[in-house]
Amino acid sequence: MKPMLAVARRKKYAVGAFNTVDYLSTQAVIHAAEELDAPVIIQFSVKTVKYWGHAALVNWMRELAGNAGIPVAMHLDHCKDVDFIQQCIDAGWTSVMIDASSKPFEENLALSKEVVERASKAGVAVEAELGEIGGVEEDIQVADEDAHLADPEKAVRFCREMDLAVFAPAIGTAHGVYKGEPKIAFDRLEEISRRTGVPLALHGGTGLSDEVFKRCIALGCAKVNISTQLKYVFIDSIVEYNRNGGAYEPLKALEHQYHKIKEEMGKNILLFGGQGRASQDQPVYADYE
Ligand code: 13P
Repeated sequence: MKPMLAVARRKKYAVGAFNTVDYLSTQAVIHAAEELDAPVIIQFSVKTVKYWGHAALVNWMRELAGNAGIPVAMHLDHCKDVDFIQQCIDAGWTSVMIDASSKPFEENLALSKEVVERASKAGVAVEAELGEIGGVEEDIQVADEDAHLADPEKAVRFCREMDLAVFAPAIGTAHGVYKGEPKIAFDRLEEISRRTGVPLALHGGTGLSDEVFKRCIALGCAKVNISTQLKYVFIDSIVEYNRNGGAYEPLKALEHQYHKIKEEMGKNILLFGGQGRASQDQPVYADYE
């Protein structure tokens, strides 16, 4: 994930990072990316890893990513538990996220550094968060009054003290469905991006406008996270199949679901500027290792 995002930041596009939930949704996203010749990040929430088990996910990914003609990163999304992160590193994840953002700054820094140290021994990339991103992401809930933006001074120190593949500063986006118009702190995003020089992750991608995506990507967001939208397509596509009188034939229902996920996530990849980048940019990844 590290060279993938370093190149994307430099060229001002973003790699879509999708929280898939099973084999079919993972396959649909990877096929969408392959069709568009785009690099892609498949990220699993802790809940999803616990549901299927580490081995199943690694096996699916070996098969799906191994057969895809594009770079695919396997990422662990928001995780507070260092032991759980270590299990993912040992199992074969290519990158992990430590989310110690609810802790005081020095504790967040220490824990994130520990994860970077452990991960780097296995050649695994790390994402870490500063400030608190609001909303609900699986088991992590941050009430509106607790959400707060990342402080640029702290962000500089945070990124200087460890080698992150991607940094997730809270900049006003939120996980889940937006209740009103999201207020994005573009100035802060610009300052953090400029002063840290690290590719940034844009969390809470569902519900942001095309314009917001484009602005954030231009300012240095090289990874855009999409989870809620995929969950909606996952469920709605089956409901739609049933409402339209689809036969009680599970494989037909799954086929409909697969096409819907592929279509909708493909639109995101296009919007984030990923099309054609796999064959253009993969050859230069080695320069960034
Ligand atoms: P959404 O659920 O809002 O798409 O956010 C996804 C995310 O940031 C996962 O970490």
